[in-house]
Amino acid sequence: MEKLYEGKAKLVYKTDKDDEIIIRYKDDATAGNGEKKATIQGKGALNLAITTRIFEMLEENGVHTHYIETLNDTDMRAKKVEIFPLEVIIRNISAGSFAKRYGVEEGIVFKEPTFELSYKNDDLGDPLMNEDHAVALGLVTRDQYDEIKKTTLKINDLLKDFFHGIGVTLVDFKIEFGKDKDGNILLADEISPDTCRLWDEKTKEKLDKDIFRRDLGNLTEGYQKVLDRIRG
Ligand code: CDP
Repeated sequence: MEKLYEGKAKLVYKTDKDDEIIIRYKDDATAGNGEKKATIQGKGALNLAITTRIFEMLEENGVHTHYIETLNDTDMRAKKVEIFPLEVIIRNISAGSFAKRYGVEEGIVFKEPTFELSYKNDDLGDPLMNEDHAVALGLVTRDQYDEIKKTTLKINDLLKDFFHGIGVTLVDFKIEFGKDKDGNILLADEISPDTCRLWDEKTKEKLDKDIFRRDLGNLTEGYQKVLDRIRG
């Protein structure tokens, strides 16, 4: 297969169809904008299995995604989109960079979710960005921004319920959107413990990439627990 792109956690390949790609989930883990790196066997397959179930659930609930089908342990077939260079972040509970930025503890439960954007640019360290900045730079139109925000809040409601159903608290998450050749906005990338903070509701155990970021133990054990509960 011809490689189109290689990112930190995924590879993208060409297919025989112009409007489809294959995304291969890698075992590589990075944190702190690539400063901390490791290869963790089985991580790619776990993220793909979890993302698959979540994208299927979202599609069933009317969210348009790039997902077409999962082909094997590591590969997903997806619609080709042009990714908006924005990291869209929802927070339900304070953690991570939010807690650090504002000097507050982790674990403050917000009355309403916060919607946040950062500019997807590794050289600049993904700086925080507001709506006007994204529009001024021509990254999105005002209408696209409105649609992205509305869809993201819906995704948060669906995900919170989904994870609550398996005894997991959705603390925060990052998603990315893209535009297909007809201009439709689709949820792209992945939704996995690499991109969400997930805490066990009862024990508060961390089941996400903070295990790696903070050296808290075995990452795949945490991700496997999430997948096992999803599979019931
Ligand atoms: O992870 P960190 O503390 O650096 O950043 P954050 O802004 O607190 O991250 C919020 C959520 O977005 C977490 O669930 C992160 O895992 C996720 N995120 C991500 O998937 N990719 C990024 N480049 C940044 C954040």
